[in-house]
Amino acid sequence: MARAPLNMIDLCVKYKIKKLVAASSASVYGQAEDFPTTEKHHPYNNRTFYGACKTFNELMYRSYKDMYGLDYNTFRYFNVFGPRMDTEGKYTEVLIRWYYLIKEGKRPKIFGEGDQTMDFVYIDDIARATILGLTQDVSGEDFNVARGEEVSLKELCNALLKAMDSDLEPEFVPLPEERQKVEVGRRLASTEKAEKLLGFKAEVELEDGLRRLVAWLDGLEENSNDAHSKAVPCEEEAKAASEAICPAGSLRDLASRNLKTILLPTPGRSTPARFKLHHGLASRSARGRRRSRR
Ligand SMILES: NC(=O)c1ccc[n+]([C@@H]2O[C@H](COP(=O)([O-])OP(=O)(O)OC[C@H]3O[C@@H](n4cnc5c(N)ncnc54)[C@H](O)[C@@H]3O)[C@@H](O)[C@H]2O)c1
Repeated sequence: MARAPLNMIDLCVKYKIKKLVAASSASVYGQAEDFPTTEKHHPYNNRTFYGACKTFNELMYRSYKDMYGLDYNTFRYFNVFGPRMDTEGKYTEVLIRWYYLIKEGKRPKIFGEGDQTMDFVYIDDIARATILGLTQDVSGEDFNVARGEEVSLKELCNALLKAMDSDLEPEFVPLPEERQKVEVGRRLASTEKAEKLLGFKAEVELEDGLRRLVAWLDGLEENSNDAHSKAVPCEEEAKAASEAICPAGSLRDLASRNLKTILLPTPGRSTPARFKLHHGLASRSARGRRRSRR
């Protein structure tokens, strides 16, 4: 979390990169004291290693600007969501966990009372802000990137249920002990600085963004099921998949046949491992992993 950004800015200096937009986070504020939280808020309430690294990184970029003239802006993203978000990592977002529960007809679980708030911002807005960070004549600044709207977990869950046309009710469960220290009760960004200096204002409404996220997740599911029905009974396909994991030529061939997912027989396991194909690269699929964890 600190080493990779350090390697990256060294490379930026070495290769005379014109400008860098660095991903920081609202986590630098920890549990903020003032709302809407401006970029001037102090970082000393952060209690996570992640937030500490983000704060360190911001200061590192600043010193590189002074030492080497590295042109940069840092963006304190708030709660980002949208297509291609991580669906399988250790820190998988609550939205993804809820989506899979709802898909299975199970009630989405909310930790605590669901009063904790977040400030959600859709990925297309993040992309637009990031480009503005590069193209506008502003440098060495930290920016909040958010909608500037407070949404409670309870509201978020109900909005997702609506986007999925589900009549399930959320289930409220006690906050697990390991979450108690890292849980942030409230997030609400001031978006004034980004608006004034970059001309950035988030445009995608939460409900619209959630519908787009659900459409993407549904698409992943359909591709996965489609490939399952195609590939499992077909020995030839399984063989091609095995070979595909290594040679790039075979992978491209599978991608050109519009196969989005491949199944690879795994010794010692009754179900094949599932890999996603994306731009000719194979990666272990979320669905396959999720199933194997259950
Ligand atoms: N998603 C959010 O809500 C959010 C909020 C605040 C800040 N951020 C920041 O935005 C950035 C992207 O977040 P994301 O949610 O898209 O995460 P992600 O996990 O979906 O993507 C992170 C990417 O970084 C790559 N990566 C990880 N370690 C690397 C390394 N050592 N060298 C090169 N690449 C490496 C991964 O392969 C992956 O492609 C991160 O810096 C994150 O801290 C995200």
